Amino acid sequence: MSNSDFNELLQQVSLHMGQNDNASAISMLKNITVKYPENFRGFASLGLCYMREKKYEESIPSLAKAVELGNHYYSRHLLGQAQLYTKKFENAENTFKDCIEVGDEPVRAKVWLARTYLDANMLEEARQTIYDITATNLNWQLPKEKSIGFCHYPYFLQWVDTWEKYLKNQRIERVLEIGSMEGLSSLWMADKLVTQGSHIFCNDIVFRDEFRQNVAQSGLAEKFVLLEGSSEFVLPSLEDEYFNFAYVDGDHRPGAAFQDGFNAIQKVKTGSLIIFDDYLNTNNDTKRAVDLLCDLMRDSIEIIEKSRQVIMRKQAHTLDFHLDESLLEKYNINKTKWNKNMDTPKEKIDFLSHKGRYIFN
Ligand SMILES: C[S@@+](CC[C@H](N)C(=O)[O-])C[C@H]1O[C@@H](n2cnc3c(N)ncnc32)[C@H](O)[C@@H]1O
Repeated sequence: MSNSDFNELLQQVSLHMGQNDNASAISMLKNITVKYPENFRGFASLGLCYMREKKYEESIPSLAKAVELGNHYYSRHLLGQAQLYTKKFENAENTFKDCIEVGDEPVRAKVWLARTYLDANMLEEARQTIYDITATNLNWQLPKEKSIGFCHYPYFLQWVDTWEKYLKNQRIERVLEIGSMEGLSSLWMADKLVTQGSHIFCNDIVFRDEFRQNVAQSGLAEKFVLLEGSSEFVLPSLEDEYFNFAYVDGDHRPGAAFQDGFNAIQKVKTGSLIIFDDYLNTNNDTKRAVDLLCDLMRDSIEIIEKSRQVIMRKQAHTLDFHLDESLLEKYNINKTKWNKNMDTPKEKIDFLSHKGRYIFN
């Protein structure tokens, strides 16, 4: 069989994968890897499909074969994740170290190495890996200098390069963060974005002891305003058009993420950026919410980047909504909850900002 037959088959596989029909994709890929045992792409796709099905044990041989045949960085990274999820900590550690050596995405590989150490309860190694990322890769000296400890996954560090690209020359007086956890993203923003005399407003349902300790240890406490409580109640009480930037990283369930995003858009000044985390998390929850926001407010926001995070800019002071039957269908919105005789824009805004989390079925 020729190369074009192989490509044709992989195209059919990707159609199944696009529809989340991983079972059909897996059955095709099993045949493909028998027919084309020298081509890494079949093994890489098979490993990926198993991962998407959370069949981590099964994914390992395919991913290892893809790495062996093609030295494929992405498969190597997935292999590390599969080893981690099946608690093969030593193997995962070695695989992520290989990823770092290959060098395609050093920060991402180091973040996963740190996660491996955290899961393996090797806390000192995790701490040193995080300091290595912040000090060596990101030129952010504060965590190491102040011996700040993070014992949750340091995923945020993967986005710093992109954030710097978009936020570098912005004058940020007030930041809004929804979801602060231990304060990794909050501290980076306080240190790198928020100028002296300005503030970051952090909202979390409960501020953990680790968060409070990290903020105190950082020497940046005067830049912080803490808003404790669930975002659905805290955000509506804040002034509209008050912030210069918002980071939405709280409750990722679709209704909550929708409501947080909707509120964040109200609360930032026109022209400001809003970033959503976890757009591509495995169950598509945040994706549904953010896609609905983008459709609903398409004339009021500009989408700057949609990858694992979504970056958008608020374009208009007065927000327009496009809500019609087709949108309700597309997002599986409960029509009985939506149709509450809301005639005026004010009524619609009130509904979306206060009860937005109830519109998803
Ligand atoms: C993914 S973590 C945030 C990570 C942090 N932004 C970072 O990158 O370091 C999500 C946080 O959202 C908080 N959270 C969950 N539901 C919330 C809600 N309804 N209101 C406010 N915060 C919430 C959780 O307590 C948790 O600390």
